[in-house]
Amino acid sequence: MKQLIKNGILVDSEGQYYQDLLIENGIICQRGNDIEPEGRCEVIDATGCYVMPGGIDVHTHFNIDVGIARSCDDFFSGTRAAACGGTTTIVDHMGFGPAGCSLHHQLNLYHRYAAGNAAIDYGFHGVIQHIDDDILAEMAGMVHDEGISSFKLYLTYHYKINDADVLRALWQLRQVGALTTVHPENDAAIAFRRAALVAAGKTAPIHHALSRPIECEAEAIGRMINLARMADNAPLYIVHLSNGLGLDYLRLARQQRQPVWVETCPHYLLLNEQCYLRDDGAKYILSPPLRSQQELDRLWVGVADGSIDTVATDHCTFPYQQRQAMAAGDFTRCPNGLPGVENRMALLFSHGVMSGRISPSRFVALTSGNPARLFGLWPRKGNLNLGADADVVIFDPRQSSVIRHSQLHDNADYSPYEGFHCQGRLIMTLCRGEVVSRNGEFTGQQGFGQFIRRRPFNDQIAAKMG
Ligand code: URP
Ligand code: ZN
Ligand code: ZN
Repeated sequence: MKQLIKNGILVDSEGQYYQDLLIENGIICQRGNDIEPEGRCEVIDATGCYVMPGGIDVHTHFNIDVGIARSCDDFFSGTRAAACGGTTTIVDHMGFGPAGCSLHHQLNLYHRYAAGNAAIDYGFHGVIQHIDDDILAEMAGMVHDEGISSFKLYLTYHYKINDADVLRALWQLRQVGALTTVHPENDAAIAFRRAALVAAGKTAPIHHALSRPIECEAEAIGRMINLARMADNAPLYIVHLSNGLGLDYLRLARQQRQPVWVETCPHYLLLNEQCYLRDDGAKYILSPPLRSQQELDRLWVGVADGSIDTVATDHCTFPYQQRQAMAAGDFTRCPNGLPGVENRMALLFSHGVMSGRISPSRFVALTSGNPARLFGLWPRKGNLNLGADADVVIFDPRQSSVIRHSQLHDNADYSPYEGFHCQGRLIMTLCRGEVVSRNGEFTGQQGFGQFIRRRPFNDQIAAKMG
């Protein structure tokens, strides 16, 4: 079966082209002007639309058990929502397993969660919850036999990693061809500030933000940059950056040619800490917290000037009803995380491209090309080149929509972006040539998604990011 996308504006991380795109058996097989349909071929008219690589969201948490609760989106509802939002591949951050478990323990569990459920393609980041010789020895097999070429470690939460073990992890992951990703927050600073707030009876949602100021995150970013440098210049990826101070540290490291990259999320670009003062402020509790408008503005500069590399969602959903019931007004008891996997592409297209902050090519780099290059999905994904998977989104810049949770496809009971106006409408998403969403409706199939064995981290490929 063939599909021919005609009359659109093809966009990749490098530029824009008035070309048609021919797909055969789920693969891009021809690009050019005035391609004519031959044989059995569905023609998709994209006149006036952008035709772009499908979104790659490299930060989701489907079905995650965070100890006090389990997120309400599993690999079906989460990927269904992703597909409806123009994302064709996700790379999920696996949750912690039992104390002392191997790296394969969580990998095997997550394969069971996702197989037969995911509606789009998927991979997993390894999770490091302790370091010993066995874990270090297991890393090579995870990368080369299992296709897990990135790992996350946390500097806070239950399984925080101390500096000595961070160094060992960074060093070994570099040796085996993996990218280290990190949740950077200073655990001691959080504990110190949180204790003082709780002692003073200050437990409203705004106090969650006050317990984790930007210095708490930026200090941990600076520390990780320096540890990575001392671990033989190990490649490092900072997840969910929320502030400009941390970004300044990253810029400094990059000026010195250190291999560090950084992700931010739509909520850090579009929602500020005023949300915590609303009656429903508990809807916005996540870590790092939402910041002041000044920090949002500083992140937008980074998105536009190339110092931020990717935009992912950190989709981690707990219904508002559950949050209220569990927290009962006390932020320390509220599970952390926000939904958003369905809105990333439309929000960044509207507030980035349509508002003139970034070009369509930069949009592709942030949402697809750069994630593919960093996380071992390139050249199969993240581009519209011949031989790549036909993962494609079609955006009509003339149409608009308003985000309403009632029209979304996740299992949450709210959207943090309720009422947001988006200029530019996603009209179709194809994953390996299969139309998985059309005009905001899910048209895919549970279980269609394939596990993607990712390639080892490659600094030559990463160096060509847009
Ligand atoms: O609050 C958040 N971000 N929850 C998800 C887990 C994490 O830290 O990424
Ligand atoms: Zn995190
Ligand atoms: Zn996360």
